Amino acid sequence: MSRTLITVLAVFLWCGVSQAGESTAQGSLPYDRFEESSVCADCHTLLSTQYNHSLMAQSFTHAWDEKEYFELAVPHAEKFAKVEGIKAGCNGCHAPLAYLAGDIPPQHPEAGTRANEGVSCDICHSITGFDGEIPFNFNYVMEPGETKQGTRPGRESDHHEIAVNDFLKSAEFCGICHNEQDPFGMWVKATHLEWREGPYGKAGIVCQQCHMPAADGALVEDGDMVPGARQHTFAGVHFPQMTTGAVQILLYPREESVSRGGTVVLDATVMNTKAGHMIPTGSAEERVVWMDVEAIDSAGNHWHLAVDRKGFAGEDWTIADPGALAYQDIAEIQDLQDFEGLSRDGAVPAGDRIFRMPYLDPQGRMTIAQWNTASFGPDYRLPPLKGVNESYTWKLPTGVAPGRVEVTATVYMTRVVSSVADFMGLPEGEKEPMPMGTAQAVFTVN
Ligand code: HEC
Ligand code: HEC
Ligand code: HEC
Ligand code: HEC
Ligand code: HEC
Repeated sequence: MSRTLITVLAVFLWCGVSQAGESTAQGSLPYDRFEESSVCADCHTLLSTQYNHSLMAQSFTHAWDEKEYFELAVPHAEKFAKVEGIKAGCNGCHAPLAYLAGDIPPQHPEAGTRANEGVSCDICHSITGFDGEIPFNFNYVMEPGETKQGTRPGRESDHHEIAVNDFLKSAEFCGICHNEQDPFGMWVKATHLEWREGPYGKAGIVCQQCHMPAADGALVEDGDMVPGARQHTFAGVHFPQMTTGAVQILLYPREESVSRGGTVVLDATVMNTKAGHMIPTGSAEERVVWMDVEAIDSAGNHWHLAVDRKGFAGEDWTIADPGALAYQDIAEIQDLQDFEGLSRDGAVPAGDRIFRMPYLDPQGRMTIAQWNTASFGPDYRLPPLKGVNESYTWKLPTGVAPGRVEVTATVYMTRVVSSVADFMGLPEGEKEPMPMGTAQAVFTVN
């Protein structure tokens, strides 16, 4: 056999393996190829209850998803050729059943179509692998049908066959939808890539360990006890239980006592101690994570402290400025006249440090439309298990009362920058500040 023929055969066989499964191109798998999650719930009761509370069960019906898709993404796709692919593409991750069925754009959630099932049980349990080198942009390979992809040998069900597939235990499985490249080639979501670069990826601590806790229990109602059954909680920023304590702050005054009118310097070390990726990750264009520092003097007066500048390129984007405007591309998307933009930082107090990576539109302005990102500003987020230092130089105003001064530093997150939440008419909860960590320090004024 000639060398060329061997190579050709090898390539052919390799392709055969990597692309096993059916086509997952838009429109190639009708809705009825997948079972409804409510069917699985008949037997897998607990896992279904957990899953139903997660955002993956609501990835199409959730208010902000519906609004962003129908009021920003679809109109933009219809007028700007560069991003026309998103009209279908958003659904590859958010409404995979509709994407695979070719039901594009899906009807609004109120129509009650199967798009509403979001990332359903049967979608995930039909995935056998991904196509290519990197999992991203819904490059799933699937074998939907009788056989559900599982992980434990020797299990049996009257309802379905079970295939043992270790791919479900990998972080790459999650990366299929948790890494996203936009039409400009920017990594607008890189949760799996961030994880892989960081200490948890290096230690092999996969997403499932934090987002699908292993708890002894049964997989089905009245089933056998299984050690370390993977719970289907998938909790993220919509669960204060996850965000609380995700950030650790230590705060020290350089001077224990200061004379009236003098200057005190406070140092803070901030660390992401709980998340396996950046904080914020994923939808980092819309989450706002910031540190607020406030002092209370012995007379009960409140004083706000502004962060010291470090002087890096693009730092202005990381310090809250109530006068700064952004998101001007909404005017082009929605054909608005006289729209100068929205407040860049929403309700974040002036001078607070914001841990963010700005997503910039083709004109270099911050955007909330991740698909319209042509470049990024500096990456000033909180990497896993890495400290970030901030300092606060405070020249005491004469009004500060003598005696004990208590300083509190708090890191907060809002899911959506408040100015955008108001403009889009989102439920109040989306702009509510959630505390992620706090610290206190004390000094005296003589
Ligand atoms: C009629 C009941 C029934 C229904 C309906 C059902 N299953 Fe199962 N399933 C079982 C039983 C029983 C097992 C084996 C449990 C055991 O051995 O502890 C099982 C096991 C599994 C496993 C493998 C567990 C492992 O550790 O590998 C997966 C995955 C699974 N089911 C997914 C699904 C999905 C997805 C659906 C809906 C599309 C579904 N099941 C519907 C009864 C059911
Ligand atoms: C986002 C993808 C995803 C969705 C949605 C999902 N699963 Fe799973 N499921 C997984 C993964 C991944 C595992 C294996 C995790 C591991 O072992 O590390 C798993 C494991 C399981 C297991 C076996 C657990 C064990 O420890 O043996 C069952 C049973 C199961 N899923 C049923 C369901 C049912 C029922 C639903 C819907 C209510 C559902 N899954 C929704 C990804 C998903
Ligand atoms: C088929 C695509 C898909 C796969 C595979 C997938 N996800 Fe998701 N995931 C999504 C989408 C879409 C959302 C956004 C839901 C929304 O609209 O808020 C999401 C949201 C989440 C959230 C955020 C919840 C919150 O409260 O904000 C977590 C956590 C999560 N996924 C974990 C995982 C893990 C862990 C895996 C792998 C075991 C995984 N996902 C696999 C599509 C997927
Ligand atoms: C060491 C535990 C840990 C690991 C490992 C981990 N996460 Fe997380 N994850 C968290 C915590 C804690 C949060 C909540 C704080 C936050 O928002 O970052 C979170 C948040 C999230 C969110 C919501 C973020 C947002 O701003 O909407 C998603 C999505 C997510 N994780 C997906 C993943 C995926 C995918 C992987 C694997 C590639 C992974 N996580 C690995 C702990 C972990
Ligand atoms: C490659 C998969 C993928 C594609 C494509 C995708 N998303 Fe997402 N989307 C996600 C994941 C995963 C999350 C959750 C990220 C996180 O919380 O960190 C998310 C989060 C969101 C959120 C925030 C939801 C919340 O609960 O706060 C909105 C809104 C959203 N996406 C809209 C869109 C729109 C509109 C498009 C198309 C322009 C799109 N997405 C394309 C995977 C995707």
